[in-house]
Amino acid sequence: MLDWNAFNEPEDQPIVSPKQDLRATIGTVSDQIKEVPSSNSTQHNQEGLTAFEIAQKALEKMDLTPAFKELEVGADRIHVDDKRMINCRADLNQLVPFKYDWAWTKYLDGCANHWMPQEINMTQDIALWRSNDGLSNDERMLVKRNLGFFSTADSLVANNLVLSIYRLITNPECRQYLLRQAFEEAIHTHAYQYCIESLGMDEGEIFNMYREVPAIAKKSTWALKYTQAIGDQNFQTGTTETDQELLQNLIAFYCVLEGLFFYCGFTQILSMGRRNKMTGVAEQFQYILRDESMHVNFGVDVINQIKNENPQLWTAEFQAKMTQMILEGLALEIEYARDTMPRGILGMNAQMMEDYLKFIANRRLTQIGLSEQFPGVENPFPWMSEIMDLRKEKNFFETRVTEYQVGGALSWD
Ligand SMILES: [Fe+2]
Ligand SMILES: [Fe+2]
Repeated sequence: MLDWNAFNEPEDQPIVSPKQDLRATIGTVSDQIKEVPSSNSTQHNQEGLTAFEIAQKALEKMDLTPAFKELEVGADRIHVDDKRMINCRADLNQLVPFKYDWAWTKYLDGCANHWMPQEINMTQDIALWRSNDGLSNDERMLVKRNLGFFSTADSLVANNLVLSIYRLITNPECRQYLLRQAFEEAIHTHAYQYCIESLGMDEGEIFNMYREVPAIAKKSTWALKYTQAIGDQNFQTGTTETDQELLQNLIAFYCVLEGLFFYCGFTQILSMGRRNKMTGVAEQFQYILRDESMHVNFGVDVINQIKNENPQLWTAEFQAKMTQMILEGLALEIEYARDTMPRGILGMNAQMMEDYLKFIANRRLTQIGLSEQFPGVENPFPWMSEIMDLRKEKNFFETRVTEYQVGGALSWD
């Protein structure tokens, strides 16, 4: 058994040799515990033992062999060349040495950008939403539809991350970022809930839109289709077919769901903010957009790294399939744009949004090494690119972020 004395050994000596008979060292039989005194350490069982003494005895007899095998106790230290994005055999519990510095940098950047929804002042939004003439019917629908889509979409992303992606990405620095991303998705869902509650909306109506409004339901079900195959806990990577399945999921979620499906809604809400309407909601979306653009960049890096390490996956046939998948997503997002903007609104219309989404689709395609499909299409909303980096736009909504480092509330002046 390991004991504290073992830690006095010279550092370069393994604590337990791989050849040591672990069974002899740690015991093999686990007894059933009988009659554990329930309430406190002064009570004894029929053999006169306290609960703590029983626990100590059980620990002595506990068979740790399977756990020792899983940890590969006594195995060699990790070398950076052992690390791989998928199907890696190296120990995943050791964060360092880093192989993918970009993943660690993104983790640190995500932490430095920490924010919480309650830090954003919603007072003006509440007054505007309650007033009878502050917003047009089209503007009110646009706010509700976007809160309807986003309030459940971030849960779909978070579920895909923690229930499917996390166990299949076999790299600890990327997993560290995935954990950070998962928390950010929780903050985003919190932000939408906070907006919905602040504005006094019917929560059931908004949260259930992904099952009631066709343009929203189509996007959500499209994403769910790609999560189902790899979400099965028996699913394992390791063959060309299954590795491609994982890659397909990553492209569906990072390049389409987070990389395309969010952009019509982001643009619409931020356009309201630019016109001094619903500035609190717009500010929430601005923080979320900053997080999301980092999620997409991380996903693109992961996808390209998997391609580099496994070139056999990136066949012409698979590339054609992925291009089609991204274009299907684009078609759904254009449909959503038409549904949420039946008429021109806020200086935008569905045609401008279609151009913008094609511009974004070109970018997503080329980011992962596919050919752009809409040559020459231009960005009708160049201000969106500038918003992606909050530091460039400190005065965007008449409020200035003076600090957004972790550990302190945002301060506004
Ligand atoms: Fe999100
Ligand atoms: Fe995200």
